[in-house]
Amino acid sequence: MWKPSQRIRWQSSPGKLPDAAALANSRLFSPLHAGRLKLRNRTWVPAMVPWRATDDGYVTAENLDWYGRFARGRPAALVIEATGIRDVPSGPLLRIGHDRFIPGLRELVDRIRDESDGETRVFIQVIDLLTIRRRPDRDKFINRFLEITPDIREALGMEQVAESAVRTRLASLSDDSLQGILDERQWESLTHGYRERVTDMHLEHVRELPAVLPALFAEAARRAEAAGMDGVELHYAHAYTMASFLSGTNTRGDGYGGSRENRARLPLEVFHAVRRAVSEDFVVGARFLAEECVEDGSTLPDVAWFATEFARAGMDFLSLSRGGKFDDAKQPRVGQAAYPYTGPSGYECMPQYLSDEQGPFGRNFDATGYIRRLVREAGFETPVVGAGGVHNFETAEAMLRDGVADVVAAARQSLADPDWFLKLESGHGDEIRTCEYTNYCEGLDQKHKQVTCQLWDRLDLDEPGLAMSRDGKRRLVAPPWNPSN
Ligand SMILES: Cc1cc2nc3c(=O)[nH]c(=O)nc-3n(C[C@H](O)[C@H](O)[C@H](O)COP(=O)(O)O)c2cc1C
Ligand code: SF4
Repeated sequence: MWKPSQRIRWQSSPGKLPDAAALANSRLFSPLHAGRLKLRNRTWVPAMVPWRATDDGYVTAENLDWYGRFARGRPAALVIEATGIRDVPSGPLLRIGHDRFIPGLRELVDRIRDESDGETRVFIQVIDLLTIRRRPDRDKFINRFLEITPDIREALGMEQVAESAVRTRLASLSDDSLQGILDERQWESLTHGYRERVTDMHLEHVRELPAVLPALFAEAARRAEAAGMDGVELHYAHAYTMASFLSGTNTRGDGYGGSRENRARLPLEVFHAVRRAVSEDFVVGARFLAEECVEDGSTLPDVAWFATEFARAGMDFLSLSRGGKFDDAKQPRVGQAAYPYTGPSGYECMPQYLSDEQGPFGRNFDATGYIRRLVREAGFETPVVGAGGVHNFETAEAMLRDGVADVVAAARQSLADPDWFLKLESGHGDEIRTCEYTNYCEGLDQKHKQVTCQLWDRLDLDEPGLAMSRDGKRRLVAPPWNPSN
């Protein structure tokens, strides 16, 4: 992963632990009743892909254990990982693109309810992805994948010769010469792997996204409700289709790109379709980017405007993330796909302990607070969920007190210690395992390996019946917590 050049070492700390009075007066442990979103307190575990589904996208026993373990810590809300809305293969990521996925998802909801004694609200993040392919081998790309266009022939002066001769000639060129012959996208397909964009209007299925996505998201939400979920989180963040519609880089000329009004059009149409497909009490919110952190990304005023329009449309929560784009991702190795968390914008999404002067904690707070303030000034009370490096009570409390957010999402801290909210709440704060922001977990995610945390995955390996990772070295869920008194 890319890191800021300063390489300043930051250390997380448990901070000042709350005593009984501080807990009683805390904002973090106060309930939230805002429209449809009713939470027992302000604690939230955001979506984290654990790479535990079957290759066909079904819930596994490992998924049940993973989410069950988070639920035992009783966060007020738990968001199930980014789950694909289409009925197409997408590797071991959960899917919700067909009714056949409902029974497995229902089992998952039941497990979370059981483990949390019904105290945790269950949401699922629903996602659409465009095609991305692995970086090809050079010869294979030239001989098999590359379309020999008239432009290529003209650049080589080989208009009339057989295609095989053109390919042979291309294969013999140096990289510099080849780059001069291929256009920008062909060169990118060779050096980074083929990747579609929402602006690829020459592709029929991309042109038709506005026609097909509202129904696909709506069906996914209907299934989520049928599985017993409390709500859905529309994934409008990071590197994926809906974020690309909102992006400042979206130049589509069909009324769904360009101005901020046009960029928000499909996200709003999707929301309305989803709202119509579910019942009155079902919660529907969205996760989107406070800042894209890439060149030509949306401005903060643009995003505050999106947030206000989402609130006006009736979204039940606005969850703000940061960065995580393909635009500045590192070149993958041959045989691997680009990963949107390897460049500077990826760092902004999941900053690690080697950082710059600003440090890895709360990098999204200013932007989130700004957006929340503008939503409030527009007259909407829609709850804002904030995230980014939150790992102790003091920071979580300050976030709420300073008006940054209404709900505190903690991803890696909850992975490091799924009981951390519960430990705080029950006066066992000194037993919390504090995340060190090494991004070991994120490295596993990048390699599509089962995600675990280095602070616990080699502990108590002699536990009877322990489920282990495929590499045989790591436990798959955090050890049980037995309160000291
Ligand atoms: C292993 C891993 C998987 C993640 N998967 C998702 C995901 O599916 N959807 C999403 O919106 N964010 C995902 N994230 C980002 C987190 O939800 C969160 O925004 C980010 O880690 C910053 O919060 P933190 O500092 O509390 O970890 C993932 C993060 C990690 C570490
Ligand atoms: S591996 Fe554990 S300690 Fe390291 S960043 Fe991930 S959750 Fe935190």
